[in-house]
Amino acid sequence: MTELAIIGGTGLTSLKGLEITRREVVHTPYGETSGPLTHGILYGKEVVFLARHGYGHTIPPHKINYRANIWSLQRTGVKKVIAVAAVGGIRDDMSPGRLAIPDQIIDYTWSRKNTFFEDGLVQVTHVDFTNPYDEELRQLLIQGCRSAHLDACEDGTYGATQGPRLETTAEINRMERDGCAMVGMTGMPEAALARELDLHYATCAVLVNWAAGRGDGGIIKMEDIQASIKTGMDKVRTLLEHIMPQV
Ligand code: HPA
Repeated sequence: MTELAIIGGTGLTSLKGLEITRREVVHTPYGETSGPLTHGILYGKEVVFLARHGYGHTIPPHKINYRANIWSLQRTGVKKVIAVAAVGGIRDDMSPGRLAIPDQIIDYTWSRKNTFFEDGLVQVTHVDFTNPYDEELRQLLIQGCRSAHLDACEDGTYGATQGPRLETTAEINRMERDGCAMVGMTGMPEAALARELDLHYATCAVLVNWAAGRGDGGIIKMEDIQASIKTGMDKVRTLLEHIMPQV
């Protein structure tokens, strides 16, 4: 059974090097997933891949069916999830082009379906989320970056915003005061749903721009983001190649 899933974000709608063995459409009680699960072999290891925004990159962050995605992965037998996500840099060391392995989350999203524990409960359920990311998987990513000589920030709080618009400078200033090192739109509720289903989950963030009001303080240009996404995702592929033997 395939135990590892990779959820690809913006710029990672397919996995180069994945020898596809089958595609699986999973029907879930929560509606449709972002697409069929792609099963295959990546650098000698079985993995399942899912493109979070859909294979044609058409689903915006607030419209992603996070519950269906996470439920489908668990249903197919997955135990560990590596989530890849493009983010903007807030903290000084979070410059575009680097990778970051966050260790904490602050959730600023709203009105997303963010729990499996709401209907038909025998008892009200609260999961522990003190450490939102699985430390063993995080260390695997960190060691992989070190051994592949990839420049990576090894900690940092991921601030999850609602999107799809980018933030104002004042919002980023507030997030910085809160302790956020990076900002993205898809980190939540994905991480919390994974925890609810006992999946080991960690994120490899790809810094693709300075957050609003950071860097030179100018407006954020999509062309610049696109260029950083491409180089960043090439780094993610290198990282995956390095960690697969240890998975
Ligand atoms: N803000 C929110 N999400 C993002 C950003 C950003 O600056 N860059 C990439 N995803």
